[in-house]
Amino acid sequence: MGVRRTLDVDEVLGRQESGELKRRLRGRDLIGFGVGIIIGTGIFTLAGVQAKTHAGPSVTLSFVLGAVVAGLAALCYAELASSVPTAGSAYTYAFATLGEVFAWIIGWDLLLEFALGAAVVSRGWSGYLANLLGLSPDLFGETAPVNLGAVLIIAVLTVVAVVGIKQSAWLTNLLVVVKVAVCVLILVVGVFFVKAANLTPFVPPSEPAESGTSALHQPVVQAALGLSPTMYGVAGMLTAAAVVFFAYTGFEALANLGEETVNPRKDLRVGILGALGVCAVLYIGVSIVLTGMVPFAEIDTGAPLADAFDRIGQHWVGALISLGAVTGLTSVMMVELVTIGRIGFAMGRDGLLPKKLGTTHPKWGTPHRMTIAGAVLIALLAAFVPISELADMVSIGALSAMIIVAIAVPVLRRRRPDLPRPFTVPFSPVVPVLAALACFYLMLNLDVLTWIRFAVWLAVGLVIYFAYGRRHSRLNTPDV
Ligand code: ALA
Repeated sequence: MGVRRTLDVDEVLGRQESGELKRRLRGRDLIGFGVGIIIGTGIFTLAGVQAKTHAGPSVTLSFVLGAVVAGLAALCYAELASSVPTAGSAYTYAFATLGEVFAWIIGWDLLLEFALGAAVVSRGWSGYLANLLGLSPDLFGETAPVNLGAVLIIAVLTVVAVVGIKQSAWLTNLLVVVKVAVCVLILVVGVFFVKAANLTPFVPPSEPAESGTSALHQPVVQAALGLSPTMYGVAGMLTAAAVVFFAYTGFEALANLGEETVNPRKDLRVGILGALGVCAVLYIGVSIVLTGMVPFAEIDTGAPLADAFDRIGQHWVGALISLGAVTGLTSVMMVELVTIGRIGFAMGRDGLLPKKLGTTHPKWGTPHRMTIAGAVLIALLAAFVPISELADMVSIGALSAMIIVAIAVPVLRRRRPDLPRPFTVPFSPVVPVLAALACFYLMLNLDVLTWIRFAVWLAVGLVIYFAYGRRHSRLNTPDV
């Protein structure tokens, strides 16, 4: 039994047959659900941070590029989600196609993505809470040595996730309405305060990075070419694109809903691509308005959007934005905590993580052990590590998982041409290959330190796999 052993697709599908899930969701519901997960710290905080530190007004182009790459990856997700609907999503697709070791890597990678994602969002939440209530940034902002607000919200949401509150469609839709309304408010009011001078030049000329910027903070592609560290310019825009890719992550969660969708052939495609499209339009508009309102060097890194309106004396808009961000970000964290629980649960069930993590609470029916373990990790990260460093790791995690998903599309077509495929990626294998290359290209624009951290994370993961998972895998002991 090698590391490339695979799960039987029919077995995966069989598990679904026995499930209790009802097909209730339509394209419109999926769009709402997707927007609910996608819009978060990426636009409320990172857009401002990246405009200030890397891209200036061209952060808008970074969002356009991110949308294209996310769109390509989303097509691949849509095909796999509709032909192999499963709660394990990408982890299970990899297990059914590329083999166990790839499944482990993707699962380990997704745990990283969602744990760090929740940490980033909790810090963004804390920054906006401080802005809303006038709390000290030394306890709740990006400058806080220990970010209390972030730890607090994670603790509260963990209790909710463990007790297993059902996120009703009503609640999700309400939060989506609040978030989208805040974005529209920013566009409608902000557009009157945009100054052309702030947007010129749109791509600020490249300049040498501040002295003291080490080669570790240079995009890996620049370092590989032996160039010296720079800020802004096209390279800065590309770096920002790789970092703000974070803002689009989350649509993958829709891939878990294939078997709850009334008409997966049409609805999944509408849901995944529709949610991404809505978010892309809002992101692009909001980033133009933000960089048009505030000279990019003066953007606040804690609550950039609320601060932009405070500066021009529109405090009521600032307060509404903070309120919307605090509410809207809550649903993102909630879903991320729940997702970590599910992925860890799926890996525990397959024996790749301790089987205890693959069990549910007798009363509440939630993967409580995994959820709590994940939450402790998230709280530690959120307490001490700044947003931008965490977000880079989420982007590299999400992008690498998307590469594996893209490769899985043609592999599964060759291996199982007979599977029903309600939705197919057009022009396969060209589009999946393009998706994989585009994701890899964005990864190359992340800095050397992020790559080193990612490599360490993968190395630790592989050690755990060979020391534990491979031996305890359910595929060793199929009857257990
Ligand atoms: N896409 C989510 C956000 O921007 C994770 O917060």
